[in-house]
Amino acid sequence: MCGIIGITGRHTVAPLLIDGLRRLEYRGYDSAGIATLVNGEIQRRRAEGKLINLDTLVEKRPIDGLVGIGHTRWATHGRPNEINAHPHADKNVVLVHNGIIENFQELRQELTDKGHHFETDTDTEAIVHLVSSFLTKGNSPQDSVSLTLSRLEGAFSLAILFAGYDGLIIGARRGSPLAVGYGECEMYLGSDAIALAPLTQNICYLEEGDWVELLPESAVIHDNNGTIVNRPICQSSVSEDPNNKGNFEHFMLKEIYEQPTVIGDTLNTLFNPWKRTVTLPELTFNLGKISRITIIACGTSFHAGLVAKYWFEKVSDVPVECDLASEFRYREARMPKDGLAIFVSQSGETADTLAALRYAKSKKQHTLALVNVAESSMAREADSVLLTLAGPEIGVASTKAFTTQLTVLACLVVATGITKRSINNKQAASYCRSLIEIPARVNDVLSHDQKISDLAREVAVAKDVLYLGRGTGFPIALEGALKLKEISYIHAEGYAAGEMKHGPIALIEDNVPVIVIAPSDELFEKTASNMQEVIARGGRVIFLSDKDGIKKLGRMAAATIEVPTVDSFVAPILYTIPVQLLAYHTALIKGSDVDQPRNLAKSVTVE
Ligand code: G6P
Repeated sequence: MCGIIGITGRHTVAPLLIDGLRRLEYRGYDSAGIATLVNGEIQRRRAEGKLINLDTLVEKRPIDGLVGIGHTRWATHGRPNEINAHPHADKNVVLVHNGIIENFQELRQELTDKGHHFETDTDTEAIVHLVSSFLTKGNSPQDSVSLTLSRLEGAFSLAILFAGYDGLIIGARRGSPLAVGYGECEMYLGSDAIALAPLTQNICYLEEGDWVELLPESAVIHDNNGTIVNRPICQSSVSEDPNNKGNFEHFMLKEIYEQPTVIGDTLNTLFNPWKRTVTLPELTFNLGKISRITIIACGTSFHAGLVAKYWFEKVSDVPVECDLASEFRYREARMPKDGLAIFVSQSGETADTLAALRYAKSKKQHTLALVNVAESSMAREADSVLLTLAGPEIGVASTKAFTTQLTVLACLVVATGITKRSINNKQAASYCRSLIEIPARVNDVLSHDQKISDLAREVAVAKDVLYLGRGTGFPIALEGALKLKEISYIHAEGYAAGEMKHGPIALIEDNVPVIVIAPSDELFEKTASNMQEVIARGGRVIFLSDKDGIKKLGRMAAATIEVPTVDSFVAPILYTIPVQLLAYHTALIKGSDVDQPRNLAKSVTVE
């Protein structure tokens, strides 16, 4: 979603704000803007499109000031043009906002009736006029914000400057994350710790309903009721400069290539190499007593959840439901006693998943957050947490977060199987052996990069692409199609291979590439039959299988990619790599913006 930053201190803030926005650009890149105070007067620069446009503008028309706020936008209300770009301002107040104000129409009407003039199509502008109306009635900035917050419905984080109040920033959080950073005679606000990483490691996460007054040497936090509160200051673990692509052309490619390392790092936290078994951190519930599991997530993380559904039911004999968070949160799901709800999320901030977590807690479920950001809202609100150690993922199309999510889920599945005694020692040992092997085998798959890049030429000219798989290959087909859609803008669909005959087979003609995901497992012959049905209708199959599978059926396919032979349990992790690379190379050929594809954002903190 949008990224926000605020700085008050001793330095000219404009370059620092732009640098912070560069680290937040993954959250949205429809427009960007900054505002500062110079001798108490509001200064503002805004530009449509990517941050580079703002950067160029500020170079041409520099902006002074020791206190300032910045914003990078993922548009929700109003077209992504300069008028609608944040910061929004009138003569008294200037602010940036992440989230959605649900009652903005009502507020806008009320304020227009009182003579306020609106310039933009955004929901945010209503906040500007509301704060301003309280200020002009003689209220202090603090009281004006407090009164404004009581009128707002929806989710938001805000950073606000006030004309005539040099040094002061007020930040507020409800529903969208906001962190306070503590520096030396300098204080910061940021949507996340990544934005503040080069400025400070001392971070405090505001809690729901908090608002904060920042001056260069102090931060005073108020809770929902206006009471001054202390929130813990922690050391942020974000140190790496996420803007460093190393020798890679894109973050996405860098992140694809990091997978052997980050899967290994993640496994190291969940695996005892001496005992050669899974050892999870302490959980707040007994895995052996779980009556049912509900996995809830969005996007790529949802596909990880779907794989885990197959795993849990096969290995650990627990009934599992897997739901899209946006559907789950409104369908009044029944949740049984002793149920476990698992929330899978790279960011730990996705609005729908977070709302689903709160719903599950209200239904007295045990809650487990599986996230990549230790300080995220989900990590803080769930009963227990399992972390993926993927490191910052900057490419908007998720890659290493997905395979590390699968890694953690696989370990959780094995641990549950052991605890519930649904697998014996021999089976447990075999699953564990297959887990240890993953980093090396993922590395092997990466060696097919050139071949996949050649195959991408064929995919790049297609209008439609189908991905087929069965069992855990089905969610990987969904993930392959999602990756292709996201970054190459080619229409793609993932289908359960057995469902082909119920509709999508009508799409088959010789210019429709069909990617078949078929490890040699107990479903191989079934998938093979579906592949024959495609070939019989002139479809061009790109066949992903192992040595045995390719020996049996490779000659029928237009092209093959050989994936190492592994235990079918871990196969979905390995088969993810070729579909990621295929999407990447196709997007490259099509010339699309791989790391920042159109209309998307990395973290979606609105519903
Ligand atoms: C956005 C991202 C996707 C991601 C989804 C869920 O749509 O573009 O890559 O899978 O959000 O995000 P989460 O952080 O909850 O995994």
